[in-house]
Amino acid sequence: MTKPSAQPLRHPEVLRGLNLPRKASLTSGANFWNTETLPGIPAIMLTDGPHGVRKQGGKADHLGLNASLPATCFPTAAALAQSWDPRLLERVGERLGTEAAAAGVAVLLGPGLNIVRNPLGGRSFEYFSEDPRLSGDLAAAMVRGIQSTGIAACPKHFAVNSQEHLRMSIDEVVDERSLREIYLEGFRRVVEQAHPRVLMTAYNKVNGTHANENTHLLRDILRGEWGFEGVVVTDWGGNHDRVAGLRAGNQLEMPSTGGVTDAEIVAAVRSGDLDEATLDRAVDDVVALALDTTAALADPPQVDPGAQHHAAVEAARRCLVLLRNAPAGDGRPILPLHPGARVAVVGDFAATPRYQGAGSSLVNPTRVDDALSALRTRDVEVVGFARGFHRFGRRSRKLAREALALAARAETVLLFLGLDESSEAEGVDREHLRLPADQLALLGQLTRAHERVVVVLAGGAPVELPFADDVAAILHTSLAGQGGGTAVAEVLTGAVEPTGRLAVTFPVRYADVPSARAASPAAVYPGRELTSEHRDGLFVGYRYYSTRHVPVRYPFGHGLGYTTFDYTDLDVDLGPTGGVVACTLRNTGDRPGREVVQVYTGPRAPEVPHPRAQLAGFASVALGPGEERRVEIAVDSRAVEYYDPDAARWLCPGGAFLVEVGASVEDIRLSTTVEVERGPGVAPLLPDAASAARRRAELGPYATGDVQRVDDDAFAALLGRPAPPSSWDRSAPLGLDDTVAQLRHTNLLGRAVLRVLTTARRLLMAAGRPLAANNVMFLVNMPFAKIEGYTAGKVRRHAIEGFLRLVNR
Ligand code: BGC
Repeated sequence: MTKPSAQPLRHPEVLRGLNLPRKASLTSGANFWNTETLPGIPAIMLTDGPHGVRKQGGKADHLGLNASLPATCFPTAAALAQSWDPRLLERVGERLGTEAAAAGVAVLLGPGLNIVRNPLGGRSFEYFSEDPRLSGDLAAAMVRGIQSTGIAACPKHFAVNSQEHLRMSIDEVVDERSLREIYLEGFRRVVEQAHPRVLMTAYNKVNGTHANENTHLLRDILRGEWGFEGVVVTDWGGNHDRVAGLRAGNQLEMPSTGGVTDAEIVAAVRSGDLDEATLDRAVDDVVALALDTTAALADPPQVDPGAQHHAAVEAARRCLVLLRNAPAGDGRPILPLHPGARVAVVGDFAATPRYQGAGSSLVNPTRVDDALSALRTRDVEVVGFARGFHRFGRRSRKLAREALALAARAETVLLFLGLDESSEAEGVDREHLRLPADQLALLGQLTRAHERVVVVLAGGAPVELPFADDVAAILHTSLAGQGGGTAVAEVLTGAVEPTGRLAVTFPVRYADVPSARAASPAAVYPGRELTSEHRDGLFVGYRYYSTRHVPVRYPFGHGLGYTTFDYTDLDVDLGPTGGVVACTLRNTGDRPGREVVQVYTGPRAPEVPHPRAQLAGFASVALGPGEERRVEIAVDSRAVEYYDPDAARWLCPGGAFLVEVGASVEDIRLSTTVEVERGPGVAPLLPDAASAARRRAELGPYATGDVQRVDDDAFAALLGRPAPPSSWDRSAPLGLDDTVAQLRHTNLLGRAVLRVLTTARRLLMAAGRPLAANNVMFLVNMPFAKIEGYTAGKVRRHAIEGFLRLVNR
């Protein structure tokens, strides 16, 4: 049963007219992007994606390999998150929805809102933040915007898609409390606030069960607790056991499997293994979605690509984060550039911007603005442009020499650095947090020769910035979409205020990341074989740095503007169900600006392990010069609650809570301690001191957030069970659920096949085809069972079984 049985079917008359095979056929795709059609039931199209419509007319794929129709490329989620402004996200969602509706798309596959657990994650650019509240509230706004056009949004990937390596087989082992508070909280917020009509499951397993078959996630939590009433769809090719998936509450499998899994459903109903009522529910949900969205598409909107582009520029303006702006020479901050400033524009990214990431979210943009051309239209004198370096790290002394010569003729150097297209892609995690060595070398040469170097950084996730103190300013553009170039030129010249704030922490070095070092290899990111152990628990991102006082390069929430703000008169009204935090904000500078006021809370003497501070609310406030406003931020109950896995509920333990208000998690301007009442019916958690001490000892490093040192016992205590095996059984024969990567533990033939693949990857990289190379990795990471679907039936399952018999000999 996937819904309370009391709930009547919405289209019983349609159901009555269908025989069993026809019903089964409606629960999987008719092809790559469309559902099945039957008399009276229209087919609908589902298409990516999170920041632009990727509608493919010809050859279809889910990795962004084949062409799609031109569409507006908005900033990616990582960039949009930097606005910290749900209203902006809602507007972008509406634009996306309109464009999708105009193209006849019924379900837009986004937003993606997995937690950026570790900045190496290959899809970090497609996700909002390391914080679930920020992710969930922004995703909810986007869903509201998309669905306001009548089509359906599809938040993804439910849940715990934290790594790309072995993404179809990895088991994310995470304790229930961290699961609820970190990995599910954003999804809860989007489901309860915005009622998305569709939700996509993740490829990975969560605590031993594929997300798509996980009854705890899909049945108990999503439908049972949060009241989700829409359609759950598999990720593309993400089905593992169709009948188990259907039973758990997954109604739609995409793409088509050519009828293979429909037959499995029919057989399961006939044998009594699957209750036909479960299938009827699923069909009813799919039919309702198809009928409702088709009705909304009956009168498609007109889209003006020019106006859409303008909206993309507007969005980009709100996403740029000024990380640093030091005084240079005259004692004034170097940015904004003064009128007529003589600038040298250096770096390939100035002319050929990085504005989106690779994979299924890849949009074919209607146009792309570059910062170099945009700067030439503004009141600065561009003395010239030098590429400075080749993309993909090919060293060139000549390009560097040209850049140095150009810089010598300019007053200020605008140096465009960033991650290249191969470093941020679906399917592949990054291997380190560094910028390419040739870019760093060029930067070193320039800063030795020139005092006024401004770095403009492109990339959808944090990088190490060891040079931060050597440059005058750093503007982080993230991946700002097709209008990013214009927005960058406007912000550098001061036509537009920098108003973005970081939605992820920039650590000093990778080793500082909580999941970078650990007492066990399976806890080091990413999981390499069977499991990825979340020994970092709740202490993800700033929750770790701020609890452990680990210095960071730029903290969560950080971002400078061209004006300054004063915070006064803190007023806190907080109880077990939440409350209001208010302060007075004043723009003390002589320019208009926008401040993101952030509220953090944390229990002063927690009864259970707890991060020092967690984001409890925020508001993006625009003020003119000298203007003052009372800012009231509603704070919900989660600000004072934690999830108690034993009681299986959220509870407010009460007691003294620290409430902080500031411009980042580290830049706290006002703070106070308030006494919060214990939630109704909540007993003191650990009434006697002895049991409290015992529990603290058991949880060892969690009590202080020291999660890089969690040993097996402490992790088992957190999980409430020993962690499952993390390594492959190298002596066992390979089965369909094992991955191609495991061929390295087989006979000569198996190893040779793997070598062919890894050599192909190397050769493609050397040939300057990084995206094709990444796609070879995608295959290497794939379970054998998925190959039939991945090759659209060209390699049949029995052939794969035969191959496995040979390599298992
Ligand atoms: C991705 C999804 C995407 C789907 C369809 C998958 O590879 O994980 O995010 O929506 O493809 O393109």
